[in-house]
Parts: sequence; structure tokens; C-alpha cells
Amino acid sequence: MHPLLMFCLSFLLITPLLIKWHPLLIYTLPFLLFTHLITKWLSTTTTTQKNLPPSPPKLPILGNLHQLGLYPNRSLATLAQRHGPLMLLHLGSRPVLVVSSADIAREVIKTHDAIFSTRPKLSITDKLLYKGKDLSTAPYGEYWRQMRSTCVLQLLSNKRVQSFRAVREEEVSLFIEKVKESYSLSLPVNLSELFANLTNDVICRVAFGKKYGGDEGGRKFNELLGELMRLLGVFHVGDFIPSLAWVYHINGFDAQVDKVAKEFDKFIEDILEEHITHRVKRESNGDRSNQGEYKKDLVDVLLEIQKDNSAGLAIDREHIKGLVLDMFAAGTDTTYTVLEWAMSELLRHPRVMKKLQSEGWILRRRSSSDWSFYLGLAGFCLAGHAVK
Ligand code: HEM
Repeated sequence: MHPLLMFCLSFLLITPLLIKWHPLLIYTLPFLLFTHLITKWLSTTTTTQKNLPPSPPKLPILGNLHQLGLYPNRSLATLAQRHGPLMLLHLGSRPVLVVSSADIAREVIKTHDAIFSTRPKLSITDKLLYKGKDLSTAPYGEYWRQMRSTCVLQLLSNKRVQSFRAVREEEVSLFIEKVKESYSLSLPVNLSELFANLTNDVICRVAFGKKYGGDEGGRKFNELLGELMRLLGVFHVGDFIPSLAWVYHINGFDAQVDKVAKEFDKFIEDILEEHITHRVKRESNGDRSNQGEYKKDLVDVLLEIQKDNSAGLAIDREHIKGLVLDMFAAGTDTTYTVLEWAMSELLRHPRVMKKLQSEGWILRRRSSSDWSFYLGLAGFCLAGHAVK
């Protein structure tokens, strides 16, 4: 819901209740509002004396939120045309710099990156991603630096990525089989769904050592993942207008976030327990055959880092759970959205599609490096046939 609409609605809803509760509020409410507006106005007047970038005029409480509209990217482009490539907005009480030129972007993310590198604290990610104990929402600093280098060296190294090549190849082959099957039966293909399943299956196998199929457990996991992704993208009014945080408490949204956080936590907790039990069993049997690099999944590697303290930083269970969740939150919808986008661009450009169809198959036959890429291309091309 648009923040302006939400603000007005909540005001309209709560005022009669408060007045019913205490009639004196009919006099005090306008007074409080008036005082708030004056304080805000005074603070705005003093900030204009600082050397701040240009800003569009803002409303009290909402700041510039009402100017974002349904398509914030378009609204920001229009505002930038009027106010320049470096513009200061206020989303509620949060100051936000909007950079719209490559030169200024370079200044921000390269020259002065240390100043801008940290991330805002947001209430939804705080609850879902273990209060910044993961990597993607950790504040910029020593912990983030060490965690990131652990991920790069131990989880996302070339060697580790190559060790999961067979998983990718198998899953992409299954994907192509599904497309082929629909094609042969002249059935339409829901590529968005197939891409989402492909990405989830690869990440599940890489992270947990198994995937969650179409059974009850699999369905529940997919639903939970869908909810997690949805919640991570929700605008929480309390992050921008703290005085309205209660609205999401009353309308049950905060309870939804707590529920998903709890369920996901239990899900990952069970997986950790399963991995620990397997490892203890293997070690007590003196069976080390499963210790080969290629058999370890991401949870195994993280538990090993924790046990050996090899990352140079003490990581606990919540760090591990946060990192596992990061891989899902950062690695699934980004990937399948790109696949979906590439597919729709190919459909819009039949000439490129034709070229790719022939090249895809040729490259696959040559198979010079990672098969999964070429198989993926072939998948696009096959899908192209099926959709036609
Ligand atoms: C096309 C696919 C992808 C795109 C476009 C993408 C894009 C991004 C971007 C823009 C960021 C920076 C966010 C920020 O600093 O706030 C990021 C961070 C991150 N991504 Fe991706 N990503 C993709 C795939 C993946 C995959 C497959 C994984 C893991 C399996 C992954 C894991 C991460 C992690 C852990 C971070 C946080 C890094 C840090 O804080 O240092 N991403 N990604």
C-alpha cells in the first residue's frame, strides 16, 4: 500500500477510537500534530543551511515518500531530471541519496566507498536474517570483512563451485527433459515456475545435500521460501516513519514475519542437526570415505569452519543459519529472474533466438568448459520452440 494512503487511513482509523477512549484528545491531538509540524519545519529550515545536495520539497512526516508512485524507478528519474544527478530525498525520516550519473556513482562506490558501504538496518531483515549475523545485511566492519573473505575462500571459491558441477549439469538436464516433455505433448510451459524450481533445486542440493521434491515436505519448503522472498521485499512503514510502526503490529504483518522466521529457523535447525548426527555417526564408524571435498555440502563446510575455528572468527549456530539463508535469499530469485528476463528478451528478438539455437547446440557438442551453461542455452532454445 502506498505510504501516504496508509498514513491517512491509519490516522482516520485511530482518531475516532482515541477520541472515544478520551474526549480530551479532540483538543490535544491537533495541538500535538501542530507542535510536530512546527518542530519538523524548524529542523528542515536549519538543515537547508548545511551544504546538502538539492532536494525536492517534502511533506512533514512523509518526507518525499508520496513522490515515489507505483514505479519508483520512473519517479526517481523524473525527479533527477529536475533536481540533478545527486539528489537528497527523505523517505519518512530516513535521508536517502539518489545518484543518477556514472561519474557520481563512481565517486560513491569507489572513491568514497568506505563511507557509503554499510547497509541500513531494516526490521524485516533483522528478524529473518538473524539481526545482521548473516553476510548480506551485516553492517560494514571487521565482522563483515572476515565473513565475506570466509565465503569467498571457502564457499564460493572456484574449486568449490567446480565441485558442484555435476549437480548443476544433472538439474539442467532434468529441466530440459521437462521442457521436452511438455513440447512433445503440445502443452504450454510455465518457464517462470521451471526456472524457479531449477534454481531452488540446485541451491538446495549445494547447500543441504538434497532437494525438496513435490512431496508434502517439498511443498511446505517451497511455500516457506516464497513467503520469505515476499517478506524480504515488503516496505515496512516503521523503518521510515517509526511513529507508525504500530500499524504493522496491529494489522498482523509483524506476526507473519515472526512466524516465517520461526518456521525457517526450525527448518534450518533440523538440517544442521541432521548433518551433525551424520558426521558423528561417520566418525564413530571410522568411516572417512564421505569426507572427500566433492561430497561436502555448504552446511558441512560451515560446520567444519565452526568446529575447527578455521575462519579466524568465532561463528555460532546463528551465523551458520544466517549464511545458509543468505544463499537462498541472495542466490535464488536473482538467478531465476535473470533467466526469465533473458528468455523474454529472446522471445522478443526471434533473430537472436535463431542464432542462439544453432550456436547453443554447437557449443554443447564441443563441451569445452562448464556443460551446464550450454545446456542452459539449449534449454532456452528448446523452450523457445515450445512456446512458439
Ligand atoms: C544474477 C544473479 C545475481 C545478481 C544480479 C546478484 C546481485 C547482487 C548484488 C547487487 C549484491 C550487493 C547487495 C548489497 O551490497 O547490498 C549481491 C550481494 C550478495 N549476493 Fe548476489 N547476485 C546474484 C546471484 C547470487 C548467488 C547465486 C549467490 C549465492 C549463491 C549470491 C549471494 C550473494 C551474497 C551472499 C551477497 C552479500 C555479499 C556481501 O554482503 O558482501 N548472489 N548480489
